[in-house]
Amino acid sequence: MTLFKRYLTIGAMVGFSFALGPSAFGAAQGKTAGRSLFNSKCAMCHGTDGKGFPALHTPDFTSPKWQASVSNAKIARVIADGVKGTAMPAWGNKLTAAQIQTLVHYIRSLNSAKK
Ligand code: HEC
Repeated sequence: MTLFKRYLTIGAMVGFSFALGPSAFGAAQGKTAGRSLFNSKCAMCHGTDGKGFPALHTPDFTSPKWQASVSNAKIARVIADGVKGTAMPAWGNKLTAAQIQTLVHYIRSLNSAKK
């Protein structure tokens, strides 16, 4: 019984560290996580390349001019609260603060001036 309990504890710990894994990893992993989050939740309106769609009035995230026009705080706020009166939804109660930060970094990485 004690041994069984110990295995259970180890199992739970291993499971827990797997669950924590992606957020604990470095920038490269963050970029992969950012890309998959972006592709699953944002790309339908912002494009998998982040260039946006004129018909949807989504901005071009790859544009150095757009990049220079917004702060990280503004990007995070827009993701959390959405933009009222537009199709941009609020994600504050669907994504964690850490996921929003991952997306901010991912959006920054799309800047064509950095490539
Ligand atoms: C249903 C379509 C839709 C989805 C899904 C969507 N967006 Fe948007 N997003 C928009 C539109 C439309 C705008 C432009 C709003 C405006 O006119 O200011 C926008 C604007 C933005 C802006 C601000 C641009 C600026 O210039 O201030 C950011 C940042 C952004 N979206 C990030 C995201 C992220 C990250 C996701 C995924 C978690 C996402 N969006 C999902 C439609 C969408």
